[in-house]
Amino acid sequence: MKRLSRRLLVGLTIAGVAIGALSLAAIAKRMIAARNAAETTLVAPPVIGGPFSLIDQTGKRVTDADFRGRYMLVYFGYTYCPDVCPTGLSVMSQALDILGPKGERVQPIFITVDPERDTPEVMADYVANFHPRLIGLTGSPDEIRAAAKAYRVYYEKVYSQLAQRGETEDADLGDPESDYLMSHSASTFLMGPDGRYIRVFAYGTSAEDMAAGIAEAMNAAD
Ligand code: NI
Repeated sequence: MKRLSRRLLVGLTIAGVAIGALSLAAIAKRMIAARNAAETTLVAPPVIGGPFSLIDQTGKRVTDADFRGRYMLVYFGYTYCPDVCPTGLSVMSQALDILGPKGERVQPIFITVDPERDTPEVMADYVANFHPRLIGLTGSPDEIRAAAKAYRVYYEKVYSQLAQRGETEDADLGDPESDYLMSHSASTFLMGPDGRYIRVFAYGTSAEDMAAGIAEAMNAAD
């Protein structure tokens, strides 16, 4: 009896160890899978940017692929913007001037979120105020929507209160159909020569800080 029970005990122990080892293996396997999933998440680049097909200020169709090999500094806004866009575009232009010859590797791009009013002609007049190399892009409402979505840029038409109340008979105030502002995010995106997102500059970044940020990205890539 004594011998039998010992044998039973040994047998149970072996079985227990085997089951334990199996579950340990299962746990380890699950942990490795979880770690791999986490690593994949960390390595995956942020999904900002992507393909676009728009019309430049000369009326020519351009796509994101046309800028491969150059950095892109991308800003979304609109020409009727009272102050945010002029400030953002000025900072962008100053940052490129601060970079000097290095800045020539960067293509500044202004994409309108108000394609109804910002025709290529309007864009041509506007971009000339800021930087000689600034490209202004417009397109159909759908093309603009697709580009903004790729860059996760928010924009929305906001009618003035006067327009909403139908009190825009005065010629100076325009008509209810066209008297509106665009509410929009005003970040500046730096994209690499491969078209991939590098970083974003929040509205309010100084030209000096933007230039330093671009130089840093270039140095890291060289
Ligand atoms: Ni603006």
